[in-house]
Amino acid sequence: MNPTMNPNKALWEKGDFTRIAGTMRESGEALVARLGITAGMKVLDLGCGDGTTALPAARRGAEVLGIDIASNLVDAGNRRAQAEGLSNCRFQEGDASNLQPIPDRSFDLVISIFGAMFAPKPFDVAKEMVRVTRPGGRIVMGNWIPGDPTLVAQILKISSSYSPPPPEGFVSPMTWGIEGNVVERFAAAGVPREKILFGKDTYTFRSPRPPSAFVADFRHYYGPTMNAFAAAEQNGKAGALEAELDALFEQQNRSDTKTETSIPATFLQVTVAV
Ligand SMILES: C[S@@+](CC[C@H](N)C(=O)[O-])C[C@H]1O[C@@H](n2cnc3c(N)ncnc32)[C@H](O)[C@@H]1O
Repeated sequence: MNPTMNPNKALWEKGDFTRIAGTMRESGEALVARLGITAGMKVLDLGCGDGTTALPAARRGAEVLGIDIASNLVDAGNRRAQAEGLSNCRFQEGDASNLQPIPDRSFDLVISIFGAMFAPKPFDVAKEMVRVTRPGGRIVMGNWIPGDPTLVAQILKISSSYSPPPPEGFVSPMTWGIEGNVVERFAAAGVPREKILFGKDTYTFRSPRPPSAFVADFRHYYGPTMNAFAAAEQNGKAGALEAELDALFEQQNRSDTKTETSIPATFLQVTVAV
């Protein structure tokens, strides 16, 4: 890695999240369908990846801007939008903890589904999301929950147990899945507790391949798991990591056939009225 490179950007550009995102499309569309998006609404999708939620929002006629720190995902999002002829959906590179030069009060709705939670400086992230939302607008976040027994929380827990300790001052992305932390961050951005709603919901990962092949996708394309394997390989523990993930995916798979994967994962939905 280039020593001057932002490690947060490097983590997501290293892999190819489109390989995982392809299994999340149905849940992304279902979530967007519940948000009351109407034609002409201005929507910002932060940490948008290749557009799992941005594209369905644009299909409903919203003017959508997707911002992501990873240039490969921004390119993939723009390609997907172009292929569908969605001229009202564009993607650009940016950091959720500093959205300058986006003007204040630009959007009716700011969505961030498992996106902004991965940005460092969570207090800055909350402040920026509030700043760019117009009064009367909404912020909707989807955040994985620490200690939750379902898929993604467990992948991240297992991956971090094989990874080197994070640098001093690192704030775990999973803290966005704790209501008290969310309240504290938005309070510091000027939003009182009563304007924040919490609910639990489910995303289902669907792959036409068996669980072990899906584990391989995480190993080769999902930044946090790639880093865990890189560290585990150095300690001779890659086999143990693979076995733990195989067991997790097998145990969580709800597909009737052994050749396909369907795994539900619980997340915290945060809705903030600005
Ligand atoms: C788990 S993926 C989710 C992507 C997308 N929201 C989806 O639902 O498919 C996390 C995304 O957050 C992006 N990300 C991480 N840190 C970021 C930051 N500081 N600013 C903007 N995007 C960031 C990553 O590049 C990646 O696309």
